[in-house]
Amino acid sequence: MKASEIRELLKWVTENVISFGGGMPDPSSFPIKDIMEITRDVLLARADKALQYGATGGVAELKEELIKFMGKVGIKVDGPESVIITVGSQEALDIIGRLFINPGDYVITESPTYLAALQAFRIYGPRIIGIPMDEEGLKVDILEETLKKISDDGKVKFVYVIPTGQNPTGITMSRERRKALLEVASRYDVLIIEDDPYGYIYFGDGESPDRLKAMDSEGRVIYLSTFSKIAAPGLRLGWVAASREVIRWFELAKQSIDLHTSTLNQYIAAELLKRGVIERNIPRIKEIYRTKRDLMLQALGEYMPDSVSWTKPSAGMFIWLTAPENIDTGEMLNVAIRKYGVAYVPGKSFYPNEERRNDMRLNFTYPTPQQIFEGIRRLSLAIREYIQ
Ligand SMILES: Cc1ncc(COP(=O)(O)O)c(C=O)c1O
Repeated sequence: MKASEIRELLKWVTENVISFGGGMPDPSSFPIKDIMEITRDVLLARADKALQYGATGGVAELKEELIKFMGKVGIKVDGPESVIITVGSQEALDIIGRLFINPGDYVITESPTYLAALQAFRIYGPRIIGIPMDEEGLKVDILEETLKKISDDGKVKFVYVIPTGQNPTGITMSRERRKALLEVASRYDVLIIEDDPYGYIYFGDGESPDRLKAMDSEGRVIYLSTFSKIAAPGLRLGWVAASREVIRWFELAKQSIDLHTSTLNQYIAAELLKRGVIERNIPRIKEIYRTKRDLMLQALGEYMPDSVSWTKPSAGMFIWLTAPENIDTGEMLNVAIRKYGVAYVPGKSFYPNEERRNDMRLNFTYPTPQQIFEGIRRLSLAIREYIQ
């Protein structure tokens, strides 16, 4: 494990600095009143259970509600034994590392990918191979070439993807690519980890493409999602849906980590689903995020020089900006923060292998509309200074 240099730099972010660096939801999206009411009701009605130790797999009522919730997007699971409640999906990522990775095993990810997934997997010593993406998501033809090359050399344990509103790029994988990915995974017999924190708040035109898990007829997909983006991350609640056998292994691993996820929070989440709070909150979150994304896109269009490009996400919380190749966004961060008062996450650490240095991740969900406009203006000044 190593401390992130970026975290060190972001310590310089004070009140006068506008930060696009974090990955936090808009706090106005939290259903605060409902959580207050529900917490009271849960404690009045069943404090004996809600404050007691619980089963490692999770609270039965929550699992039942989640099975219905996933059912609405076409995900069918094999009963409550094929679901486990985790401490956010971050815990699930760590458990995946524990269960599947031996030192030297191959793990395949999108490139770039979620930084904290790389950190979670790396503890277990895999060889991580990143597959490039385009606007339709992971390039499945390159995945296939890679699998062909390495399958003689060692075991490929899984392909990890974030198909909708990917972190950090904001890209959503097209339906065709999803189909192709499942076909290639089947041909080479590898597992797919589908990390889906953003699928439920897809705010693009039309419907979000089906989940890989909903398209999977072979039980090949391990599906992860979370309450962090549809309710509140402070609840620290995530879940995994997979085959009963895989979930049994998850439970075994989780026992020695933390026995179980917070019982009180699980009862609260079950009620959030049962009372329709989540369902009602989702359109509101989509609207907040669509508006903020549009604002950031508009500001980028107004302020950035022609040599800069960026993604146009229809889900997730991030825009991925590519500066001219001579710019090292890691080096520029210091100047961006101290001279211009704006922060972002340099792209380099999201790449498992290649060392691209001219991208950055911009979060549009947490800053206010005024901060988005002013922050992008400041960022454009920093970039212009470096172009010259
Ligand atoms: C792709 C992805 N996976 C997992 C997580 C972890 O979320 P949590 O542990 O809050 O469920 C995040 C959080 O931003 C994420 O973007």
